[in-house]
Amino acid sequence: MRSKEKDRLAVCVFVIAAYILSVSVYVYAVKSLENFVSRPLALDPLSYRDAMSRLAGHVHIVTTAEGSVRRGVTITAACSVSDDPPTVLVCLNLANPRNRIFVESGRFALNVLAADQMDLAHVFSGRDGIEPELRFDYGNWTTLSTGAPVLSRALAAFDCEIIDSKAIATHMVLFGKVMAMEIGDPREALVYFHRDYHTL
Ligand SMILES: Cc1cc2nc3c(=O)[nH]c(=O)nc-3n(C[C@H](O)[C@H](O)[C@H](O)COP(=O)(O)O)c2cc1C
Repeated sequence: MRSKEKDRLAVCVFVIAAYILSVSVYVYAVKSLENFVSRPLALDPLSYRDAMSRLAGHVHIVTTAEGSVRRGVTITAACSVSDDPPTVLVCLNLANPRNRIFVESGRFALNVLAADQMDLAHVFSGRDGIEPELRFDYGNWTTLSTGAPVLSRALAAFDCEIIDSKAIATHMVLFGKVMAMEIGDPREALVYFHRDYHTL
């Protein structure tokens, strides 16, 4: 092979190698960027619940009573609405017919759980398979103003009269005006995060 042909071949090899290298660098850069930039997820209920599992929520037991029937449900969907007049809200699943008693009774108590009350969170979430009325055999329950069951030694308890309610999608949002309150001993809180209980 003459030296001119050799030179041409060398240039061709160089150009092809440079091309392959630049394409590889480009593909690598795009892939890295994709990992950096968060892509929007589908808005189906499962993905939504996945995203919500990243939100730490305080664990409560919301209770009510009507006649001789009492009901308590472990919830995280609760928060303060206003301090004047003191008002809170809770969200309860409409698909569960047992939750109707909350609207019918017109009252609820929001019992804020401490870390040492995780066993009660299990009982009132139905996880242990205990019949609803028998769940009140666990913990010490009393009443304040409205007659809704109030947990002794809760971190805090808000005894409420329901002043408004609104069905939104799968849940009923209940707004409660606080009629009486109790504050328990200060100790660690029970929170739910990444689909598990934690203490704070
Ligand atoms: C950590 C945790 C948080 C929950 N949060 C809510 C909530 O905000 N609203 C709700 O309606 N149910 C919530 N649930 C589900 C109820 O606790 C459960 O469906 C209910 O207690 C079942 O009651 P039943 O066995 O009497 O039908 C939660 C459960 C757990 C374990």
